[in-house]
Amino acid sequence: MAKLSKVYIGTNTKMYKGIADTVSFLTGLDRRVQNDYSDTLELFVIPSFTTLQSARETLGDGRILLGAQNMGWEDEGQFTGEISPLMLREVGVQIVEIGHSERRHVLGETDEQENLKVLCALRHGLIPLLCVGETGLQKEQGIADEVLRIQLKMGLRGVTPEQACRLRIAYEPVWAIGVNGVPASREYASERHGVIRSTLAELFGAGAAQAVPLLYGGSVNEGNAVPLIQMPHIDGLFIGRSAWKAERFARIISKVVPAFLEKNPA
Ligand code: PGA
Repeated sequence: MAKLSKVYIGTNTKMYKGIADTVSFLTGLDRRVQNDYSDTLELFVIPSFTTLQSARETLGDGRILLGAQNMGWEDEGQFTGEISPLMLREVGVQIVEIGHSERRHVLGETDEQENLKVLCALRHGLIPLLCVGETGLQKEQGIADEVLRIQLKMGLRGVTPEQACRLRIAYEPVWAIGVNGVPASREYASERHGVIRSTLAELFGAGAAQAVPLLYGGSVNEGNAVPLIQMPHIDGLFIGRSAWKAERFARIISKVVPAFLEKNPA
């Protein structure tokens, strides 16, 4: 089985940090992880839209990738309130989060819309980070795997096997996210990641599927980050609350990277 040589770690700061907070967070994070793990870590931060310009200036051409939390799927047009891929490129965004559970379940986005955004991101050279995950009710009903397969097959419709390596997929069970979330056990998370991997193999072939980084998200913290990354198919972590202080995030990173390299030796 081909193995990824890097671990993927990122955070989305949701609707929390304004410009000053984002700049100080990024400055602190950059200082702490600057030259560490240069070939073995893809690190990204996804702050709110209004902070992107300042975030880009703070990060310079450094090693932390800058992401956007959402994106419209047309280059321009009559889409009041939307931000186009061209606008994101203009401020130096490299990665775009698509279909976070709060977009799907609070703002009512559909798999068809996520698909338009994935294709649009690929067209514009942005890395699409597609988030998938079942609700608590779907888990109870025993249909988590079906939900994941539908979200992937609809969300990635029209993506070619050649493009697959540019994708990132975050498995974020809705019931595990946020202040009321319960973290998934590492066994449960790994099984779902296995389902995601086999669905990607159906879509793109086994080789291309292995090259897609799969990240777990949902109440990742200092205690469960290493046990999660040790599991098969978990190639990275997508962290909310526990990453929002630079010092703690850097501490998690410094534990997760060696644990990943132990699992996937070069
Ligand atoms: P959390 O958020 O780590 O605070 O649960 C995860 C997410 O929403 O991506």
